Amino acid sequence: MKVLTVVGARPQFVKAAVVSRELRKERNDHEEVLVHTGQHYDEELSEVFFEELSIPRPDYNLGVGSKSHGEQTAEMLAGLEARIEDENPDAVLVYGDTNSTLAAAIAASKMEPLLAHVEAGMRSGSDIPEETNRVLTDHGGDLLLAPSPDALDNLEREGITEGVHFTGDVGYDALLWARERADESILSDFRIAEEEFVLATVHRDTNTDDPERLETILSALADDPRRVVLPAHPRTVGRLEEFGLYEQAERELTLTDPVGYRQFVALLDSAAVVATDSGGVQKEAFFLDTPCVTFREETEWVETVESGWNTLVGADGEAIRRAMRDATKPDEKPAPYGDGSAAERIVEVLTNATGI
Ligand code: UD1
Ligand code: UDP
Repeated sequence: MKVLTVVGARPQFVKAAVVSRELRKERNDHEEVLVHTGQHYDEELSEVFFEELSIPRPDYNLGVGSKSHGEQTAEMLAGLEARIEDENPDAVLVYGDTNSTLAAAIAASKMEPLLAHVEAGMRSGSDIPEETNRVLTDHGGDLLLAPSPDALDNLEREGITEGVHFTGDVGYDALLWARERADESILSDFRIAEEEFVLATVHRDTNTDDPERLETILSALADDPRRVVLPAHPRTVGRLEEFGLYEQAERELTLTDPVGYRQFVALLDSAAVVATDSGGVQKEAFFLDTPCVTFREETEWVETVESGWNTLVGADGEAIRRAMRDATKPDEKPAPYGDGSAAERIVEVLTNATGI
């Protein structure tokens, strides 16, 4: 079987790493063509993951870079259509909900190969670009690879019943791999001790592009008596500078460049609380038994909230302060995201569907 995998953004490198490893196992005898759209291009958002996770070099890098949603998606779409035409794979494999996902989905859904979507069926019910990307990708997909029972229900509710498979979450597979290889040197680099600090990330446009929301989040984080380590996405750094908030953030928080995945997992595992607006980070905190506070009004990872491990606080300063102060570990934790063998299941579904 020949699979053309499309990645472009940080969380996709992490997830594709585990499936790629499975696809390329000798016994499987499959061929993978890896296409990087170039949506993320800074070393700390891209190259570092290829190195750390031993992801094979991309066969193609479309070098699309940062643009408006329309321009970026259109340029990727044209580039991906040409690659699919040339390579003629049996399946096109896409991940998650970024513009790279959508561009690949539009291209592949009108062409011969099967379109397979990893993280199918995730819905937050909100009007954000990622939700548009998820819904359109699922409706164009042939193989819908769902990470949780809730995702299966969401697909059924939208009338998508064919080609749907429960695989569990590849993010869990990736986390299990990284937990064994977590790079704890970062704790001594930052002179922080286990359970004595807060790990924060912010990168959603709804939070970064609105100066009031960004300032509220920053101030609430700064009021926490513990050290707050914030590896900042370049989008966030750009906005902090634009709104004149960078110096305040640098003074009040431990602001750093984004860190590699194995270092980030060490931070996630040791933090007293995680405060984030990231999809992947909410879930990783849950896997590692670290309570999470989420700067969003809703989430697609509903089980983390329903089980009491994650608290949605939006950009409400008081709610953020309270949730960070009161965060505790519930006695129990459900296991809705599979058993860590999602990559194997995905390859199995692809093999059965293509018959190769
Ligand atoms: C994208 C995804 C988002 C995902 C996130 C993961 C979409 C619509 N959004 O958001 O779902 O959670 O990736 O991190 O696909 N930039 C750089 N260097 C880079 C990449 C980006 O400086 O290597 C800056 C640019 O100023 C750019 C901004 O970040 O305009 C936003 O980048 P973009 O890829 O458009 O969206 P993300 O916010 O990264
Ligand atoms: N991550 C990382 N270093 C960082 C911040 C995040 O390795 O400094 C990893 C994190 O562990 C997760 C992924 O990047 O696997 C999440 O990416 P992001 O928050 O950008 O995207 P989202 O999951 O919200 O789409």
